[in-house]
Amino acid sequence: MNWDKKDLLGIKELSKEEILLVLDTAESFKDISKREIKKVPTLRGKTVITLFYEPSTRTRTSFEIAAKRLSADTINISSSTSSSVKGETLKDTARNLESMRPDAIVIRHSMPGAPHMLARILDSSVINGGDGAHEHPTQALLDLFTIREKKGRIDGLKVVIIGDIAHSRVARSNFFTLRHFDTEIVCSGPPTMIPPDIESLGVRTERDMNKAVKGADVIMMLRIQKERGGISFIPSVKEYATLYGLRKEHIEKAKKDVIIMHPGPMNRGIEIADEVADGPYSVILDQVENGLAVRMAILYLLIGREA
Ligand code: CP
Repeated sequence: MNWDKKDLLGIKELSKEEILLVLDTAESFKDISKREIKKVPTLRGKTVITLFYEPSTRTRTSFEIAAKRLSADTINISSSTSSSVKGETLKDTARNLESMRPDAIVIRHSMPGAPHMLARILDSSVINGGDGAHEHPTQALLDLFTIREKKGRIDGLKVVIIGDIAHSRVARSNFFTLRHFDTEIVCSGPPTMIPPDIESLGVRTERDMNKAVKGADVIMMLRIQKERGGISFIPSVKEYATLYGLRKEHIEKAKKDVIIMHPGPMNRGIEIADEVADGPYSVILDQVENGLAVRMAILYLLIGREA
């Protein structure tokens, strides 16, 4: 299987073979981070820019560490430190950055399609680090990697995704990975947070969270996307936490070896209780660890191989 894409813009554009290639490549990179000297020369001489117009703990840091572990040079730019605060357009910022000949630009932006726009005008590889409520491809790839690692398979699993589905780029990208496999995908959340066309993505909706989690192999919790107006879709956070917050009683309804996932950042006590987030079924920090290997794989596939 060959990787022939210049950019990683979304999961929707990837075939099953391409998704599996990323996962298999990530497997081979995972060990590097466990070595005493956590560095290989794969991307020596390459330059990776992270251009983040929205806050991030995991994605930006993970891309920077991934690039550094592969010996690339990295530069981080955030909206507050870029000339966008002086009125420069995203296009102009990107064109100016490209004049300094980076090999890849990782962009996070609140505007859906921002990475796609950059990919059309730049020769550098563009990686979508999250665009509005549209897609978060590297999150879905690390989620799938974690599911495969923990469960030993993807086919035959019941995956339940709970929360603010309508405003979640993580949910959308996960639907696009999971639909390639023989998985039962179930969504639960307030009706106002479930997109009306969700069934067209191969997803079943179960309004009652207690029913949704029954027999689940994987439970993925999502936070309310306050920055995308999510809070105005529910009567109160307290009621949301009561109806859609994951607690121990829900775990007991799932399979005995269920895994609990969350892309972060978590709002403890709202969509997930401490006892679950920090409990024995939680793989939330494994997701973060795997994110590093997945982002190393993406950088390698996009800019690390000879044409
Ligand atoms: N999961 C995720 O995208 O986290 P950050 O917002 O911290 O990057």
